[in-house]
Amino acid sequence: MHKGLAAGGAGQGVVGGGRLDLLVDRSDELAPESEASMTVAIRPETDQDKSSIRKVNQAAFDGDDEANLVDALRDGGFVDVSLVAEKDGEIVGHILFSRVAIVTKVGTMDALSLAPMAVMPHCQRQGIGSRLVEAGLKACQSSHKIVVVLGHPEFYPRFGFSAEIARPLESPFGGGEAWMALALIPGALDGVAGRVEFSLPFMALP
Ligand SMILES: CC(C)(COP(=O)(O)OP(=O)(O)OC[C@H]1O[C@@H](n2cnc3c(N)ncnc32)[C@H](O)[C@@H]1OP(=O)(O)O)[C@@H](O)C(=O)NCCC(=O)NCCS
Repeated sequence: MHKGLAAGGAGQGVVGGGRLDLLVDRSDELAPESEASMTVAIRPETDQDKSSIRKVNQAAFDGDDEANLVDALRDGGFVDVSLVAEKDGEIVGHILFSRVAIVTKVGTMDALSLAPMAVMPHCQRQGIGSRLVEAGLKACQSSHKIVVVLGHPEFYPRFGFSAEIARPLESPFGGGEAWMALALIPGALDGVAGRVEFSLPFMALP
């Protein structure tokens, strides 16, 4: 497991606030985006996608850890947004956003963590991952103001993530330039400093 690359989850302070309803409620929002491509559709996950999502994560990460993490986050009610990329009837990509808590001196703020995300190896570098991030962030906007990620420093800044604005946020996984944050609403991270708490599935990663 690439603990550092799978940042995400929900702080214990937000455990149990499951919002899986959002997975289906946002399908209308995503429909125009899906129609924009004739071959790859981005849409919320459904119950029928679970085993395909496992396969995508297993293939992209070459192991079971991220697939198990997705299942644990879903089972634990931590997921806020989970999207799949479907190409010619096959699930070839997946992205998940789950809740975290930012514990500051003046209180606790809700935020989302992007992780894991995966694209089937034979479909990588075709823009599918970028479409998942863009659609995912759009879906997150209706419920949250802040997203954090621990991942490829050359990839996520394309979508506005910044290591610099994440510096006042402490991650239990460390991260350096790979630890990034994004304000979905301008100014949402201004003056925010504190510790990011992750859900139990993340803290239990090998
Ligand atoms: C990272 C990943 C989700 C990107 O999906 P994708 O569909 O290939 O992404 P896009 O085609 O939209 O964008 C390509 C960019 O992704 C990044 N990328 C793709 N494969 C990568 C890899 N093996 N290592 C690091 N970065 C990678 C690069 O920044 C690349 O940009 P470039 O082509 O200009 O070099 C996908 O490569 C993947 O599943 N990788 C394995 C699992 C993983 O690392 N997940 C992310 C954890 S943070």
